[in-house]
Amino acid sequence: MRAHPAGALHGGLQVDGVTATHPLGPPPTDLNALDPRIWPLGTERVAGVMQVGGADVRDLASQHGTPAYVCVERDFRTRCRDHRSAFGDGADIYYAGKAFLCRAVTRWIEEEGLSLDVSTGGELAIALAAGFPAQRILVHGNNKSPVELAAAVEAGVGRIVVDSDMEIARLASIAEKAGVRQKVYVRVTVGVEAHTHEFIATAHEDQKFGFSLASGAALEAARRVLMLPSLELVGLHSHIGSQIFDTAGFEVAAHRVVGLLATIRDTLEVTLPELDLGGGLGIAYTSADDPADVADTAKQLRTIVERECAAAGLPVPRLAVEPGRAIAAPGTVTLYEVGTIKNVDGIRTYVSIDGGMSDNIRTALYDADYTVVLASRHSDAEPMLTRVVGKHCEAGDIVVRDAWLPADLAPGDLLAVAATGAYCRSMASNYNTVPRPPVVAVDDGTSRVLLRRETVDDLMALDES
Ligand code: LLP
Repeated sequence: MRAHPAGALHGGLQVDGVTATHPLGPPPTDLNALDPRIWPLGTERVAGVMQVGGADVRDLASQHGTPAYVCVERDFRTRCRDHRSAFGDGADIYYAGKAFLCRAVTRWIEEEGLSLDVSTGGELAIALAAGFPAQRILVHGNNKSPVELAAAVEAGVGRIVVDSDMEIARLASIAEKAGVRQKVYVRVTVGVEAHTHEFIATAHEDQKFGFSLASGAALEAARRVLMLPSLELVGLHSHIGSQIFDTAGFEVAAHRVVGLLATIRDTLEVTLPELDLGGGLGIAYTSADDPADVADTAKQLRTIVERECAAAGLPVPRLAVEPGRAIAAPGTVTLYEVGTIKNVDGIRTYVSIDGGMSDNIRTALYDADYTVVLASRHSDAEPMLTRVVGKHCEAGDIVVRDAWLPADLAPGDLLAVAATGAYCRSMASNYNTVPRPPVVAVDDGTSRVLLRRETVDDLMALDES
């Protein structure tokens, strides 16, 4: 996500008949290149054609249709392992299912030794349907319904993150009726302004999540939970936002939240054994993005927490983190077919694809940046400045705001958009009654459908009018 001058083009560079200096900078020297920091592990061109997970994109498109999310299983699993080894056995890694969840992914998570963060009854149902061990599930949400809370307690989930006074009372009564002592975290709003888009920053004071640390509400929540026999307070939780590139925000958050652990020890005489620092680690959507390496980040987080705990005279709690995007996003690409190409004289070329804001709302919603390439063939044509747009009846239906694509692009060509594994299928809609695309897993050249493509009949089946 970046600030851009509202699509304006200013003098300097001759592109497609337009003189332009663009936030994209000059076109890349090789439009066929695939930056390995952006594309799924092992993505390459063979005779000019992109191979994802060992499969030829033309075969994938003819087998599964377009648009399609193509997920490289080995990439997903490798990132799980990287997180595991970066944080070590002394930490719990809760994959944030909101990024993308289905039964197969739940099984990958389990097999790779990760735990799972769910934030609705729907996500919990998928996890349980996949046989995920309930003790390794953590439940989030600022408005969990009584039914959702009861389902979580009944399933025996490991941790529930309480988010409001009302919820503490609700959960306590549900747990009491069920005759269990439910482990909980208190979600703390630490007052950190994370350097990310406003809609995905979550720890500043004026927002819906958590209990404010500054106002004393978080300490009060801890006190209330400790008084309730059906709840067991095991830790604090803080999540400062998403797509964060540096550890500065985590440092301030850890400082404050460890300070609260110390206050809880001093005033409530309890030393909490766990600390959950949430998710938010950023990834590279374009070559301009430079996210921190997970091993470095893990080391820094641990060092920060150890230092803060030493200063407060506290034992180091068991750490938990909740990565979603950093595990799910980079291993998936979306394949689209080019439908129409329109040169808007003197401005740019609009390339319309067969999906759009219904399968990727992130560009419209957060002004997100993506990388797109011509995937189905090699091209030596000149670069042209394009905007890749969808098929929806909305001018803001943009998938890639500014992209250099070869000037010989033609209807029927396949485009691949990188890093679409998180918050794309999970935030997809049926706007304009467009069925949602399938999610196809590829491994060693073989593909299998994880989620099938919706049909108009699926959508019509809901219409009881
Ligand atoms: N934990 C909590 C409590 C969260 O709220 C989130 C994300 C995560 C973990 C995972 O964060 P991640 O590691 O994926 O950054 N739809 C937005 C992102 C919203 C994230 C919401 N919460 C997007 O597309 O960028």
